[in-house]
Amino acid sequence: MMNVHEDVQNYYGQQLQQSTDLKTDACCSKAQVPSFIKDIIKKIHPEVVAKYYGCGLVFPPKLEGCRVLDLGSGSGRDVYILSSLVGPQGYVVGVDMTKEQLDVANRFIDYHTKIFGFEKANVEFRLGKIEQLTDDSRLQINSFDVIVSNCVVNLSPNKKKVLQQIYEMLKPGGEFYFSDVYADRSIPEDLRQNKILWGECLSGAICESDLISDALDVGFTRPILVTKQPIGVNNEELQKLLGDIKFTSCTYRFFKNKSIEDSTSFNDKLGTLVTYQIPIVHYENEFQFNHSITFKIHDKPQYLNAELTKMLRISRYSDNFKFDPITDEKQVLNISNDVCDQQILNDQSSSSCCCRPGTC
Ligand SMILES: C[S@@+](CC[C@H](N)C(=O)[O-])C[C@H]1O[C@@H](n2cnc3c(N)ncnc32)[C@H](O)[C@@H]1O
Repeated sequence: MMNVHEDVQNYYGQQLQQSTDLKTDACCSKAQVPSFIKDIIKKIHPEVVAKYYGCGLVFPPKLEGCRVLDLGSGSGRDVYILSSLVGPQGYVVGVDMTKEQLDVANRFIDYHTKIFGFEKANVEFRLGKIEQLTDDSRLQINSFDVIVSNCVVNLSPNKKKVLQQIYEMLKPGGEFYFSDVYADRSIPEDLRQNKILWGECLSGAICESDLISDALDVGFTRPILVTKQPIGVNNEELQKLLGDIKFTSCTYRFFKNKSIEDSTSFNDKLGTLVTYQIPIVHYENEFQFNHSITFKIHDKPQYLNAELTKMLRISRYSDNFKFDPITDEKQVLNISNDVCDQQILNDQSSSSCCCRPGTC
C-alpha cells in the first residue's frame, strides 16, 4: 500500500537527482517561454535549473509588488523567476515537503539576491505539506495576492484539501494560477498504487471536471483554462501499463471570490463590453485571459458574459480594463453568436470525463 507523502518525498528527495532522471515526459515543460522569462532563467543558478521538474509556465501578468506563494517549489527555479518579476517591493514564499529539494533552494538565496541586484532577499522557503499550510508552514490566511504551483497538485492524495488551503491563503480577489497533469479518465486502482507512475505525475493526474467541481465547492470562481497541451509518456514499459489513457498539461486560473461595490449602473446579468486600455509591463500588445479570449491593446471592445466579467473585475487586472455595461438586451443580440457560444462552452467543463469513482 502506498504512503503517498513518504513515497513522493523519497522519489524527489532520493531517487531523482536531476530532470534527466525522470522516466517519462510528464513533468517536462514544453511550453513556449517568452523572451523576458528566458532572460531571467539565464540568471538562475544551474544547480537549481537542473532540478526543475515543472510541466508549464506559472507566471501570470502584473506581478510587480505582489506577495506570491509557490506550492511544491522544489529546488526553487520558479520562486527565483517570480522573485525577479515581483521585484524588491514584492515577496515570494516557496513551500515543499521534501527536505533535499528545499536544501538546494535555500543554498542559493544570497546568490540570486545579488544577481537580481536586490538589497535584501525577497524570497524564503518553508518546509511543509501543501494540505496543511497553516499548521506546517505557519502561513497567514488572506495574505497572498497570487498562488502558483507547477506540477504538484497531481501528487497530492487530497486535492480538495489543497484547494481549501489555497482559498484560505489568498486575499479576496487573489489568483490561483497553476500548471498540472490531467488525465482523460479515472486511473485504475492498481496504477494508483504504482510508486513510479505516481512520482512521475501520472497516477495522481487530475480530472478537469473534478477540479472544477472541487474549486466551486470551496468558493472559487469557475476555473478557466489558459493553455492545454498533450503529454507523451515516451517510455514503452510504462506506456504499456497505462494503456490508452490520455494525459495533458493544462494551466488553469481561478480567483478567490469577493463582492464588488458598484457605483455604476452595471447590469451584470447581461455581461459587458471590455477594452484592454492600460498596458501591463511585458504584455503591452495583448493579454490572454483564457484559452480563447485574448484582448489586444486599444482594440475594439470584446463581449464578456456576466461570470467572466466578474472574474476580471475582482482581479488585480481590473484597473487595466474598461468595462462598458450592457444596458439593453438588444445589444446582446447584436453580439456574434460565436462569441457567446464560445463563452458558454468555456463556462462548462472543457472535459466530458467523470473521473471520481462513483460520481458518474
Ligand atoms: C514535480 S516536482 C515540481 C517541483 C517544482 N514545482 C518545479 O517545477 O521544479 C513536485 C514537487 O512537489 C513537492 N510535493 C509533492 N507533494 C507535496 C505535498 N503534498 N506537499 C508539499 N510538497 C509536495 C515534491 O517534494 C516536489 O519537490
